[in-house]
Amino acid sequence: MIREAIIENLDVKTKTFLIVDMGCSIGPNTFFAMQNIVDAIKDKYHSKLSLDSMSPDIEFHVFFNDHVTNDFNILFKSLFSDQKPYFASAIPGSFYGRLFPLSSLHIAYSCCAVNWLSQAPKELIDVKNKGRIHYDGASIEVWNAYVAQFHKDMGVFLSARAKEIVPGGLIVLILPAIPSEISYSKIGYKMFTFLESSLIDMVNEVSHS
Ligand SMILES: C[S@@+](CC[C@H](N)C(=O)[O-])C[C@H]1O[C@@H](n2cnc3c(N)ncnc32)[C@H](O)[C@@H]1O
Repeated sequence: MIREAIIENLDVKTKTFLIVDMGCSIGPNTFFAMQNIVDAIKDKYHSKLSLDSMSPDIEFHVFFNDHVTNDFNILFKSLFSDQKPYFASAIPGSFYGRLFPLSSLHIAYSCCAVNWLSQAPKELIDVKNKGRIHYDGASIEVWNAYVAQFHKDMGVFLSARAKEIVPGGLIVLILPAIPSEISYSKIGYKMFTFLESSLIDMVNEVSHS
């Protein structure tokens, strides 16, 4: 789907393509994703050239974005153990805000990252969802608070990208979702329940020590 989208819809004239993976983590998924995007652009523009070519007609600059606390050392160590057909940079910081100058990006990609909210909904922290990290099995008020936070975050995310992406550029978002016919209270995300109880155990260990 991404390859098709690039071939059919990417509509920019440039010699240097600027691509970002937002919420890249430490690899290796990001490397496969960026390689696929680079390959699709090369095919679209019929270029078989790479950085080590004597006279490349198109070049790629990939920006790896994640929180400042992400271990970018691990990412770049594995990236450069292998010759990559693109220039690479880190762009630390939250994607819930501007990361790039105006109209500078050609493709913004993100996989399984924008489902992470910028923060827990404020109104839930102390009262209605105390001790919880998720809305699974909670009341409708809790669900609505998460929905409102998601809308707010997506608004901030999309308006930042709208400024950064050039006309004719692309945004690719992959995020987990639930079918609308499944009630929020029946999702049964047991993974989050287990994670929640582990976190609570850790907090209790610290507060009792
Ligand atoms: C589940 S991992 C996905 C990693 C990678 N994209 C993949 O497909 O394997 C989610 C990543 O998003 C990052 N992330 C979450 N919220 C973020 C934010 N506001 N700004 C930048 N990165 C964020 C996390 O730090 C984490 O590395």
